[in-house]
Amino acid sequence: MPYQIVTVVGARPQLVKAAAVSAVLASEEDIRETLIHTGQHFSPEMSGRFLEELELPRPAVNLGIGGGTHGAMTAAMLAALESEFVAREPDLVLVYGDTNSTLAAALAASKLGIPIAHVEAGPRSYNDRHPEEINRRLTDHLGRLLLCPTELARLNLVREGLAERAVVVGDVMLDMVVKWRSRAVAPAMTGPFVLATLHRPGNVDDGQALRANLEALGTCPLPVLLPIHPRTEAALARLDWQPPTSLRIVAPLGYFEILGALQAAAFVVSDSGGLGKEAFFFGKRCLTLLPEPVWPELGEVGAVQVVSSPADLPRWWSWAQEDWTPGGQPFGDGKAAQRIVRILREFLAGA
Ligand code: UD1
Repeated sequence: MPYQIVTVVGARPQLVKAAAVSAVLASEEDIRETLIHTGQHFSPEMSGRFLEELELPRPAVNLGIGGGTHGAMTAAMLAALESEFVAREPDLVLVYGDTNSTLAAALAASKLGIPIAHVEAGPRSYNDRHPEEINRRLTDHLGRLLLCPTELARLNLVREGLAERAVVVGDVMLDMVVKWRSRAVAPAMTGPFVLATLHRPGNVDDGQALRANLEALGTCPLPVLLPIHPRTEAALARLDWQPPTSLRIVAPLGYFEILGALQAAAFVVSDSGGLGKEAFFFGKRCLTLLPEPVWPELGEVGAVQVVSSPADLPRWWSWAQEDWTPGGQPFGDGKAAQRIVRILREFLAGA
């Protein structure tokens, strides 16, 4: 009997991360992977399109749980995932990142005594006002295999008493960039531009905050390509206000389009931890609109500047456009997925 791994995904960035590992797992004869999609992200441009582009296996089931409050969403996922795990009896549950889908899967599996492997274990912002911080911390403490993208992430886990379960494998998002960058689709922008994304509740849910962020982006000396997340689109629709005309607001991009935009952009402005990393993989700087960094590694190599207030953005336009040479590559060598699969196999064989 092959070993059974159930992988739980739900939000867009998890599809990218899972695709890296699934591609390697697919060539393992004695491991069978089943994908469960929670439905956290449900719009075609946030999910379906990524499943196709990234050649992910078709999810065995989509639980259809998207929207609602954090408690309601996580609770509904917890109950549904528990039933799935009971029925499927996996040898291991594989989770990614820090979303509500990640935490729900970790809770359900741990109560059933099913070991959990957590990819992207260990990053910390130490700010509990971000649900992601709560999700990743709890998931790490429930996990059996903590697969860290960087040495700093591992050290964070060591400080929390988790040294024995933590191992640095590198970042699977780098695997994906290495694998797919030749398929990048150029954006419909002429001349130099900046790529920007915004979706954190603190930046977009409140109308005044959203407006301040978009007005600050409007001071950018270059035109700004802004693929809009559904949360941000909904918040903008509630405002009776027109964003600056230098912002080119477009629908969410597919993976190959994001790669193309990163390749062509002068630099990036974002409140997404993931996009800041991807910008770095393309040698581009990123201004991060968060109170504190999720990836201090990026600050250390000179790739990211945290800008905690949009009013401060204009001070950083020229820094972001400078030519620069990264001071290191903390995210590994683009072969994280192979290491992860080796570790999973050894664990399953010994379990
Ligand atoms: C979630 C993750 C965040 C991740 C982000 C990537 C948590 C706590 N947050 O935030 O860490 O960076 O995904 O995108 O899990 N919506 C749609 N269509 C969709 C998806 C969402 O309309 O396909 C709407 C939802 O109904 C909701 C809003 O957008 O009203 C936000 O979605 P939600 O999944 O709650 O959180 P994100 O902001 O996407």
